[in-house]
Amino acid sequence: MKIIAFNGSPRKEWNTATLLKKALEGASSQGAKPELIHLYDLNYKGCISCFACKEKGGKSYGRCVVRDDLKPIFKKVETADALIFGSPIYLGSITGQMQSFLERLVFPYLTYTDPPQSLFPKKILAGFIYTMGLTEELMNEFGYNQRFTAMDRLLTRIFGSSEMLLSFDTYQFEDYSKVVAPRFNPEEKLKRRQEIFPKDCQKAFEMGARFAKKYRIK
Ligand SMILES: Cc1cc2nc3c(=O)[nH]c(=O)nc-3n(C[C@H](O)[C@H](O)[C@H](O)COP(=O)(O)O)c2cc1C
Repeated sequence: MKIIAFNGSPRKEWNTATLLKKALEGASSQGAKPELIHLYDLNYKGCISCFACKEKGGKSYGRCVVRDDLKPIFKKVETADALIFGSPIYLGSITGQMQSFLERLVFPYLTYTDPPQSLFPKKILAGFIYTMGLTEELMNEFGYNQRFTAMDRLLTRIFGSSEMLLSFDTYQFEDYSKVVAPRFNPEEKLKRRQEIFPKDCQKAFEMGARFAKKYRIK
């Protein structure tokens, strides 16, 4: 079983990347072959609206024709059995890098038929790990859940299944004393980092392990 995780954070060792690595560890523990791709290492832009992927009878129907660093990645995705996307929340949404990646990855597979259908060649497992500075209460108040549910539906439509994992109130700065952020209580943040984040890591590990097990049963 081949599982690919995509890190939509510019940071390679922080919250999002740590959870993705845990998910891959979980998958490896069940014999899966893992790969972690850092989106910020790649050169690409979002969809340019050329519609080559929608052209009637066109060679590129269902495929993105833009040639950049994502081209080989799309090939890899078609050989994967599971995908896990991970992104911090920036200004209430996934990062621009993750958004641009998903526009390019998902839009070609999504048909403009009624109802919309998926041109992705097989059913695979998909997951999304979100990390955010807000607490769960504030996240609910700000309505983030609607976005997460919409993403869940989109991934289910394209890949056949989806699940999500949310990590709240994350530890954001290496040293809270060096930044202007009186809104945060560094001790409480550290406590959460030490007590709750490891539980999120465990959930991520279990997600990866579950994916690998489900694949074995398939
Ligand atoms: C540019 C920027 C915008 C952010 N906006 C939000 C936000 O709107 N809501 C939120 O909950 N957290 C926000 N955060 C906090 C991050 O989502 C949070 O620290 C996340 O865990 C960072 O992930 P990382 O450690 O993997 O880089 C923001 C952080 C940055 C750098």
